[in-house]
Amino acid sequence: MPRKSTENQTALRALRNHLNPIAKQPSLPTDRALKSSSSTQKGFGRHGHFPIVLRFDRQHLTQSDTLEFVSERTAIEELSDLFLFLADNDFAGYSPTYEQLARSISADTKLLEFVESSAHPNARRGRVPVLFFAATHDRILANPGCEIAAVYRGESDADPMTSFLELINQERGAIIENMRTRSVQTNEVGRSAALALAFGRATQDVSDSLTLFEIGPSAGLNLFIDRFHIDYTRNDKALASLGPDDSTVRLRCEVRGPNTPPLPTVGFELKARNGLDPMPIDVRSNAECRWLQACVWPGIPDRPQRLSAALDIARQSPPRLIAGDAVTDLAVSLDEIPESDHLVVFSTWALAYINADGRQTVLDTIDQRGANRDLDFITFEEPRFTPWVQPAEAGVFEHYLGEGTPTQLSLRSWRGGVCTTTALAIAHPHGRWIHWLEENHG
Ligand SMILES: C[S@@+](CC[C@H](N)C(=O)[O-])C[C@H]1O[C@@H](n2cnc3c(N)ncnc32)[C@H](O)[C@@H]1O
Repeated sequence: MPRKSTENQTALRALRNHLNPIAKQPSLPTDRALKSSSSTQKGFGRHGHFPIVLRFDRQHLTQSDTLEFVSERTAIEELSDLFLFLADNDFAGYSPTYEQLARSISADTKLLEFVESSAHPNARRGRVPVLFFAATHDRILANPGCEIAAVYRGESDADPMTSFLELINQERGAIIENMRTRSVQTNEVGRSAALALAFGRATQDVSDSLTLFEIGPSAGLNLFIDRFHIDYTRNDKALASLGPDDSTVRLRCEVRGPNTPPLPTVGFELKARNGLDPMPIDVRSNAECRWLQACVWPGIPDRPQRLSAALDIARQSPPRLIAGDAVTDLAVSLDEIPESDHLVVFSTWALAYINADGRQTVLDTIDQRGANRDLDFITFEEPRFTPWVQPAEAGVFEHYLGEGTPTQLSLRSWRGGVCTTTALAIAHPHGRWIHWLEENHG
């Protein structure tokens, strides 16, 4: 039977996901987290396990990004918890099919063993369940007549697990092949709704047009941010709109919390769109684009539509995507950009795929350039992957747990050789809502 999360591992996972574990940062928010230990809110400390978690946190989280050290639980048990965590925090109320499947998978040892053994040994463990869903979804898209395909398309409300298992039995080899050769490359244009606010805030003092450089762009769809129409609302009332009125990509972002972000009144003028990704996706290749579709979760009506609309825009004039690794190739790529351009480097849900040393190298590379030219570095990532940013109060994360992994929008600006770093907002990972942190705007 699918189970609800009742184990402390889930609370542990929640803590790891939302607090920055890098102890080099003196202000590791453990005290604030402790204050929250009596919280009974969604997912975060609901089983009262924070003190245990924090002991592990202090002793070990400095050493590794991985969870292996925190318990003697087996890899299969941990994988089970990961599926359960996703069901509770990311899929619940958003992708009902994945929520149901994730709960069932978490209780199916045989299937968990298959997932575990299919994953590439170097895969980042936290990403394995979502990679497995994408690897399987790819095969479902390749077999549109199968029963689970009808469930994914919303044409059947049969219990998905039986037909999901059938598909896995048929497509075992191809699923393993996907798991071994592919990585999660979800290109989510909804993130542009959060990014646009950061771009506006970052470049308030910049009159030149912008040259964008995305780390981990996948197909580079968010590089077309100026071509999307974005509506910001509060309590269902319009606050502001950005971008062309007739755009086929229409995003909606609900502003939450006490502060109102500085809402840009004009669109961006972009001079160039660049990206660096180990496996850049060619928007002109149907096979590549199917992988993008496979990374989309079923049951969310607007996502496939806006992906395909964004692909149509990108195909008209594809972005310049360089095949390479941000850790080793970023310096050379950035140095190709004329110093007269105002450079905006950004990453959205990409630093999670780079290890802690690699992320530090990425930051150093950007900082070295920033010391010599003005630039902005915008990140839209889980806070643990941007340890150079003082994270938002733990309470803000707690408040939004269960509504998608809260993702922090941050800005590191270099002006005249001086660097300032600001946590701007917490937002839904796909930009559906945003909680602005700065108080001095509105
Ligand atoms: C989850 S996708 C996010 C894509 C896009 N940023 C978005 O938000 O829509 C993560 C992307 O990071 C890329 N990536 C992984 N490791 C990387 C590295 N070392 N350097 C640059 N990009 C990387 C992956 O190939 C993938 O395209």
